[in-house]
Amino acid sequence: MAIKENKINTTASTGALRPTLIFPAGMPRSLDYLEKCKREGQPVIGSSSLPYDVCKPLYPAWSYLPYITDPTFSDALAKTIKEYGLGMIYSPNPVVWNYLQRVLKDIDPEVTLVNGSPVDSELVDYRTALQHASKSLNFPLPIASSHPLKAPVSELEIAIIFKHGNVISGMCDDEKIAALCEIARRSPAGDLVEIGSWWGKSAFVLAKLAQYYAIGNLLCVDPWKSEHLVQHDEGGLVDGGISQYDCEEALKVFIINLLPYGRGDINYLRMPSTAAAATYQSGRTVHSASFGSTSFCGQIAILHIDGNHSEDAVRADMEAWSKHVKAGGWIIVDDYLWPYGDGPRHIADQYLEANHCRLSSAFVMGSALFMQISLEQSGAV
Ligand SMILES: C[S@@+](CC[C@H](N)C(=O)[O-])C[C@H]1O[C@@H](n2cnc3c(N)ncnc32)[C@H](O)[C@@H]1O
Repeated sequence: MAIKENKINTTASTGALRPTLIFPAGMPRSLDYLEKCKREGQPVIGSSSLPYDVCKPLYPAWSYLPYITDPTFSDALAKTIKEYGLGMIYSPNPVVWNYLQRVLKDIDPEVTLVNGSPVDSELVDYRTALQHASKSLNFPLPIASSHPLKAPVSELEIAIIFKHGNVISGMCDDEKIAALCEIARRSPAGDLVEIGSWWGKSAFVLAKLAQYYAIGNLLCVDPWKSEHLVQHDEGGLVDGGISQYDCEEALKVFIINLLPYGRGDINYLRMPSTAAAATYQSGRTVHSASFGSTSFCGQIAILHIDGNHSEDAVRADMEAWSKHVKAGGWIIVDDYLWPYGDGPRHIADQYLEANHCRLSSAFVMGSALFMQISLEQSGAV
């Protein structure tokens, strides 16, 4: 919801910004809006109808207003508008917003609501997720694949992936989610292995798809250690931001994001991919305090390589893990197209060149490369 142009919100005489009233001021969206106003230097006044509102100290200024059902509300609001020279009102409460939408022009035609319908705002992410799901079902990616196609899950189930997946911050865009939805329908049964999970965005998508299409259990491999974040990217733009991240916190965020969806079918190894490959090879059960024990079959249906993007690291990931991908299984190399370096693309191209006879499908979607091992073949070169 865009803030109105400053000229609408300035006093004609001085050109000073006129304050925005946030009412009621204690709702989560009100507090988000307060932060936005503070960041942008927009003067703001909080208001609510509670005699004592715990959020009052968060605001630089405060004005009590009666409930909108109180006959004195309009006069009280007119008085507040005049007293503070208000320009706009922000209200995330649907009932208050509807009421103000109706009466504000009579109270003060100069003052406007800054935000659109709160109902639309609350629903926008759900509607977007449903649109993605509808597109995914009605215009599926025409993937040439050797694996028999499973019937898609319902629009609601796909919408769940987009909605909940996009609540998790991370590097897995809608294009890639759409492609993952399609390859999951063309996947054999087997383990899903993700190299590089961070806060768990793509892991969540893989976990849900594995459950929907009964593919297998998900193993997330990530050292969650700051030294492994160093990518040696061209220009150092990626490496320059590493100090902002706390790896202990990142693992907690991963667990918060994934644990609600686990049914004993998700687990992780906190180690670099090469060490994890040795562990994977030597045993079939992975244990962690949060997720308990999860068994793996030792054959990978979907391998997602999204760890460190330096060429050496991607080569090590590919060498350690691609040999475990079974016939009909998929290898996804994330950031095949990456503005900060060529590591993933060089290694993926080498793999393509050496193994093209064994592949039944290869395509780029978003910035990731998707490759399917032919049903007749196995054993990487
Ligand atoms: C781009 S992030 C992963 C993003 C994630 N897949 C998502 O959907 O948001 C890269 C991750 O790779 C991890 N990583 C770095 N070196 C690794 C290694 N040798 N083995 C496994 N993971 C590694 C980092 O700790 C980081 O969490």
